[in-house]
Amino acid sequence: MINKNLVFLLPILFLLLNQVHVNAVTHNYAPRNIDVERSPKNILVGSYVGGRSHIKPMLDVTTILAERGHNVILLTFGKFEPSSEYPGLKQITLGPSVSTVKENKRLKVNSDVDFRTMAEFMKLSINTYNETYEKYKNVVKEYNIDLFFCDILTNEVCIDAAHNLKKPVVGFTSFLQLVDQKSYKSDPFFGCSISLENESFFERFRCNLIQPLQNAYALWAPNRQLNDLRNKMNIKMVSGILPKLSLALVDNFFGFELPQSLTPNVQEIGPVLSDEYPPLTPEISNFINLHKRVLYVAFGGRFFTTTENNNKILQSLVEVINKKLVDGVIWALSETSKDDFYPTLNLTDGTQLQTLPVLNNKHPHIHITKFAPQFAVLNHTNTKLFFSHGGTGSVHESLYAGVPMLVLPLGGDQRGNAQRLATAGVALSLNKYSLDVNDIVNKIDSLLKDEHVKKNSERMKFLARINSKRKYRAADLVEYILYSNSLLDKYVGDEFLKEWISIESRMGFIKANDLDIYGALIGVILVLIGGITIKLTSNRSSSSFKIKSKKA
Ligand SMILES: *[C@@H]1O[C@H](CO)[C@@H](O)[C@H](O)[C@H]1NC(C)=O
Ligand SMILES: *[C@@H]1O[C@H](CO)[C@@H](O)[C@H](O)[C@H]1NC(C)=O
Ligand SMILES: *[C@@H]1O[C@H](CO)[C@@H](O)[C@H](O)[C@H]1NC(C)=O
Ligand SMILES: *[C@@H]1O[C@H](CO)[C@@H](O)[C@H](O)[C@H]1NC(C)=O
Repeated sequence: MINKNLVFLLPILFLLLNQVHVNAVTHNYAPRNIDVERSPKNILVGSYVGGRSHIKPMLDVTTILAERGHNVILLTFGKFEPSSEYPGLKQITLGPSVSTVKENKRLKVNSDVDFRTMAEFMKLSINTYNETYEKYKNVVKEYNIDLFFCDILTNEVCIDAAHNLKKPVVGFTSFLQLVDQKSYKSDPFFGCSISLENESFFERFRCNLIQPLQNAYALWAPNRQLNDLRNKMNIKMVSGILPKLSLALVDNFFGFELPQSLTPNVQEIGPVLSDEYPPLTPEISNFINLHKRVLYVAFGGRFFTTTENNNKILQSLVEVINKKLVDGVIWALSETSKDDFYPTLNLTDGTQLQTLPVLNNKHPHIHITKFAPQFAVLNHTNTKLFFSHGGTGSVHESLYAGVPMLVLPLGGDQRGNAQRLATAGVALSLNKYSLDVNDIVNKIDSLLKDEHVKKNSERMKFLARINSKRKYRAADLVEYILYSNSLLDKYVGDEFLKEWISIESRMGFIKANDLDIYGALIGVILVLIGGITIKLTSNRSSSSFKIKSKKA
């Protein structure tokens, strides 16, 4: 009896002893030190296009660097008003804003703002190249700049200045295609679909051969002009964007972007979001709390659509409320004015709607506002759908909040974003050239009801949240480049960042893909086949000769 009991107790005794042992060891643990060696450095942030959508994510990364003791100086056209959001940031303006909203209004309404527009932008940037280059040079001297952080969109001057002043340069973009093109991917920006996976042979032929020629043709004149200018100013240049960059940071994430392999110095670090956002204003807070199913509408501050489209959108908003698909609409009408609307609209039920009272917020379920704290609106549980232009910043915020989208792309990267969102199963998209009220209403209905859309939105929310931590990784990588460069004693040479550059790029295309080996193999096979054929034919001819000679 006693023995049996003891046997039963033994394992428990063991466990207890083990516990004591583990506890004893835990007490002896010492922290792993994860500090790295750092000294304050000076970082220049440069953007040609400027504006909130381009600069904000870059500043969200440099804010981390500033908190770690580095100095950050922003150089851009126009005036970015960072005072409240980014206290302590120094801005040096490069001149008046590149293109005022009004000038671009007509251009953008009836165009796709694609690679041809990029060529136009490039021509504009050449006009200010010399002046801007001098400004960069002066800032580098005056502030003892250690690293360039360049928005890469039509910003050759930033990258050139970094290279010629022998400073490392980190490129920033949300548009992966600009730094790492793959033959199986493209973008509506270049006149093709985001994925060529299921496209026909002819479409792949067009997108991989014809389109790049069109693109090169559009960029040929401005490129030549730029190179002439570089020669005159004695500025050395490296061809291609990627070879010039020590590192390219891409504000994007797989799940949203289609998956592809990346070279080591192209790093995905998005979605970059701020740690804090402005809260709801009292009016919007009141409105949103009184409505349980809110549709939020905003098309950004840069792009516009036609008066006709504005009216179709307004009519759709009234129709979805009348059909009880949603019980409230918030429309952030930032740049569109009230003159952009017809006085009356004919609704599908035959009644007429006076637009002015709606625009003056007399409709109980439509709230029109000049400014909406977008993130806070999307973040509210009552917001069920976002009717958006599909700008990258808005998309990231909406995915983060898990809100599905109806996208009306107006230009630039927005059509690609719309396709990516549709592929991810969280959005439907509209065509600005053939906008239709019934189509809008039906799509809103289906987005609100589809269970797949709900699940996909939850999935994307998870992905966006875990990936939003990667801005700290972006800051780490920038710090590594600063540190590595400081070891080189200000000399940016062949050894700098050798550990980043893929072996493949040094080997060249032929060796990296073993084409020489395959070539040799084909050669050997051809020689063998040739040898056998000669042998066979000579055998045959000699045997026929024998027969002939026998006959003779
Ligand atoms: C292409 O077709 C395959 C098979 O139908 C599908 O699994 C895949 O998702 C499609 N790709 C795209 C980008 O639509
Ligand atoms: C660039 O600007 C400087 C003065 O700012 C001027 O002296 C120089 O000639 C200009 N160079 C070219 C190539 O326009
Ligand atoms: C609404 O219908 C009336 C005729 O009933 C027509 O004159 C008017 O142009 C229509 N308005 C719009 C905006 O289509
Ligand atoms: C977002 O929502 C959470 C609750 O889900 C809240 O704690 C937070 O303050 C909100 N943030 C903003 C900017 O509205």
